[in-house]
Amino acid sequence: MKSVTILVILGLFSALASPQGQLCSSSNTFINSASLDVTPYPPVKGSWSMITLTGKATQAFTLQEWDLYWNLNGAIVQQFDEPVTGAYALGGSITVTYNYTVPATATSGYYNLKMLLQNNNGYYMNCWQFSYYLVG
Ligand SMILES: *[C@@H]1O[C@H](CO)[C@@H](O)[C@H](O)[C@H]1NC(C)=O
Repeated sequence: MKSVTILVILGLFSALASPQGQLCSSSNTFINSASLDVTPYPPVKGSWSMITLTGKATQAFTLQEWDLYWNLNGAIVQQFDEPVTGAYALGGSITVTYNYTVPATATSGYYNLKMLLQNNNGYYMNCWQFSYYLVG
């Protein structure tokens, strides 16, 4: 009983410590062993939020932008494109970040953020998403 409790607590802590976004479609091209980290998780009103995509390039590419789709309580509330830079060689380690401030006036609720990564040929390489509840 005690060990079950400890396992549950450990599982909870590891879930909190490494919040990972998920691929939102089966198409993940150009990047291997990829993961998306969100720090802090969940995001907090009035504070910065850092999103970091890491992985290995499976071919050379140059990045152009992230198309961001913000969903609140099941409806799109905002869409914009965020420029990203970076030229990667085959086998290179990839780090793409997006650091923004969560508005202090943001509406509380269930958010989902979808991020479509585009290269400089206008090709959508992959799509990531993560969800969280914004309190306050
Ligand atoms: C994100 O940007 C804010 C404001 O410029 C800065 O204070 C913070 O350290 C940045 N976070 C990371 C993880 O770089």
